[in-house]
Amino acid sequence: MNNAVEPSRKPITLHRLREMHAKGEKIAMLTAYDATFARVVDEAGVDCILVGDSLGMIVQGHASTVPVSMDEMVYHTRCVARGNRNAWVVGDLPFGSYQENREQALRSSIALMQAGAQMVKLEGGGWTAETVHFLTERGVPVCAHLGLTPQSVHALGGYRIQGRDEAGAQTLRKHAKALADAGAAMMVLELMPSAVAREVQADNPGLMTIGIGAGQGTAGQVLVLHDMLNITRGKLPRFVRNFAAEGGSVDDAIRRYVAAVKDGSFPDEAVHAY
Ligand code: KIV
Repeated sequence: MNNAVEPSRKPITLHRLREMHAKGEKIAMLTAYDATFARVVDEAGVDCILVGDSLGMIVQGHASTVPVSMDEMVYHTRCVARGNRNAWVVGDLPFGSYQENREQALRSSIALMQAGAQMVKLEGGGWTAETVHFLTERGVPVCAHLGLTPQSVHALGGYRIQGRDEAGAQTLRKHAKALADAGAAMMVLELMPSAVAREVQADNPGLMTIGIGAGQGTAGQVLVLHDMLNITRGKLPRFVRNFAAEGGSVDDAIRRYVAAVKDGSFPDEAVHAY
């Protein structure tokens, strides 16, 4: 595959992402944590870069995302912003940086946006709706995150599929509606039955849902970069596909991912028969 930069590629804006969603074009998102990978991912045509707090595991070697600090997120967001040219940058608010109150969330969001994020992501259900409203009213685009929320791994009892029974599915749908009504433009849906993710998208047509382990029914997909390049050691979740398996370069693997998200061949619905 060709590694050359698309000469016609313009900076991705929230407006452009909404247009893509309205037309049914799938949104391809990947994580990146440094300038070099941000450049590579951007040049391969990824629409959105997530500076995920998964860097706690991927970069820092922690067992979870819980120890990641605000200063570390600001540092990695700055690195990504320097390498990126055109992709939309989403920065994760780490554990402890938004739970106290909405003012704390605003201060943390301002720090991430001044470091180069164009949108902030925060984990949690309806209890975050007031904060989401407060942030969006003040010019901070928000991506919510429902389903498996890794910052709550200890409360959830591990990395488990969420919303498997009717009551759990209904709770997810209720929280998704509250967050969409509060102004969340985007929402990561992690590790849930594809039927539930599909319902969330159908209930909230304007919301850009981004799935990870949530089947094909979302507006877009996200994976952890190191997982899809097969350089993460240890057991990977079964929804991860190794895009480097066909050989070629890192650029090729990322281009294959973008193409597979866009044409709907990733994810494979059979892998999500939860
Ligand atoms: O931190 C992260 O990388 C994430 C994705 C797994 C969605 O939140």
